[in-house]
Amino acid sequence: MTEKFREILHKRLTRRRFLQGSGVLALGAGLPMFSGAAPATGIQSSLTFTETSHELTPQLEVPSGYQSQVLLKWGEPLFAGGPAFDPLKQSAEKQQQQFGYNNDFIGFLSLPLGSAISTHGLLVINHEYTVPQIMWPGSPNDMSLNKAQTDTDIVAHGLSVVEIELVDGVWHQRKNSAYTRRITPFTPMHISGPAAGSARLKTAISQDGVHTLGTYGNCAGGVTPWGTVLTGEENVDMMFAGDFSKSPEAASLKRFGMSAKPSKSWAAHYPRWDLSKEPNESFHMGWIVEIDPYDPVSIPKKRTALGRFKHEGANVYINADQRVVAYMGDDQKFEYLYKFVSKSTYQPDNRAANLQLLDEGTLFCARFDADGTVSWLPLVFGLGPLTVANGFRSQADVLIDVRKAADLLGATPMDRPEDVEVNPANAAVYVMLTKNADRTPAQRSPANPRAQNKAGQIVELIAPKGDHTATVFAWDMFLLAGRRDDPTTTYHPATGVNSWLACPDNCAFDSKGRIWVTSDGAEDFGIAEGIWAADVAGISRALVKRFLRAPFGSEICGPFFTPDDRHLFCSVQHPAEGSSFEQPSTRWPDFVETMPARPAVVVINRKDGQVVGS
Ligand code: FEO
Ligand code: CA
Ligand code: CA
Ligand code: CA
Repeated sequence: MTEKFREILHKRLTRRRFLQGSGVLALGAGLPMFSGAAPATGIQSSLTFTETSHELTPQLEVPSGYQSQVLLKWGEPLFAGGPAFDPLKQSAEKQQQQFGYNNDFIGFLSLPLGSAISTHGLLVINHEYTVPQIMWPGSPNDMSLNKAQTDTDIVAHGLSVVEIELVDGVWHQRKNSAYTRRITPFTPMHISGPAAGSARLKTAISQDGVHTLGTYGNCAGGVTPWGTVLTGEENVDMMFAGDFSKSPEAASLKRFGMSAKPSKSWAAHYPRWDLSKEPNESFHMGWIVEIDPYDPVSIPKKRTALGRFKHEGANVYINADQRVVAYMGDDQKFEYLYKFVSKSTYQPDNRAANLQLLDEGTLFCARFDADGTVSWLPLVFGLGPLTVANGFRSQADVLIDVRKAADLLGATPMDRPEDVEVNPANAAVYVMLTKNADRTPAQRSPANPRAQNKAGQIVELIAPKGDHTATVFAWDMFLLAGRRDDPTTTYHPATGVNSWLACPDNCAFDSKGRIWVTSDGAEDFGIAEGIWAADVAGISRALVKRFLRAPFGSEICGPFFTPDDRHLFCSVQHPAEGSSFEQPSTRWPDFVETMPARPAVVVINRKDGQVVGS
């Protein structure tokens, strides 16, 4: 352990005692973490399942006493009479009516709206990206797809909305449901909030800077208490290509990560993705999109008040004063953590009003300090450095160029913020920081304390007196992940030798407040990706247990519980990634020679019907 790291840990523990003494920390936590210690016995997690193994295999494994059902697979027809899936005869027309590729976020919304029914509901699923090498024979890559393949590839992105029901212990999709919907990069949408209509949003497909087409790169998301889904547009820079060096927007495009070099075939076939022709088209992307799945003809809204960056997702919390607070991460190395606080208040009986809540409010970026506080810095035009002198002419400019605004405010560069979610049981906020191998020793900071951080960490934020609109919170390190024997990790001493995790990505909480974390990068450590669960308080705080083991090449995303905690949905994304259509490293989930590996939604329950995790 380096001196610097020892010092940071010492500050963490000292501050924890201070916070407990001052009553700021009301989590009942307080068990110091131990680094690289031998497993201790006698302390039990409240989670009763027997852990799964962590070796790499072609199969998905759940604990004994549990079962998993593959509910929806890539290519599956979603509409009654829809085209069956034939991997050798795939087309855009078929894909448009089928389940998309690489499912990520999952939201379960009870039917009817406003109920907490756990056996009947809508499932809203993101399709983040594609893996052409596994979708088509002949190993095409993202840049080499022909026009017909490109069209298929494009509509394999977006979202699917389906109606599902539990009948005799088995989940079914209702193919004749009026709710069924495919949302793609061509679906009409509106840009709303302060940036709507900005001259910088006017393009060939949008004369008014309000109308736009589609969403893609949809990574994680969240479900709002008013029954909508928030989906995060993340790696949207991949779709764009073309020389923009002469564009007046060149600096802005560069800061977002746009590149003239293609990463996908889209720009070769459609001018809207060609930055040399349509640089402003890229400003239509990188937002949080709100979708109302209960109204299949509703027009999705890009909520510009929540800022434009590589959105992992957004999770909302209703504050005691009924204002809505949305927490969001910008998933790239050295990018920032954000929160949005609505101007108006949530009204349980006025859905129409709630559907406007995310259009007006204040966006903040986070600065973490060594004294254990995190300050939320307002991203408001005219405040501090966000002025004309620095290139901002309006709030629209601040929101379109949020990363630049947050740079100027001195936000803390983080180790890739992924899911950020409030635990309903203790109202603390948990931030998944997946990894950042590029961080140098000189770039370490209290909440990102490791250089060449390949394993990630989970940071916990505590709102003072539970007020999530406050501008100063307390923070703490919940867990520094990595190999069990790595002295820079902070596992609970009772953590099993095979229970360690790496690269936390998505999370969910059960109604008892236990955290369920998925990984994206554990395979780099020689163990399977999966789902881990842990208590967040008491003597078993952060005592992680492996719940699920993912098949080769896949990561698990989008864990989401039914309201009764008896069923856990999750995405198996990119199974067999790194191999090919002809010779996949796994043929999960079909395991037949005629089928490639297929991303799919899985639902898990206890065979005896009790709560998952119990
Ligand atoms: Fe798409 Fe942030 O992982
Ligand atoms: Ca993710
Ligand atoms: Ca989540
Ligand atoms: Ca990820």
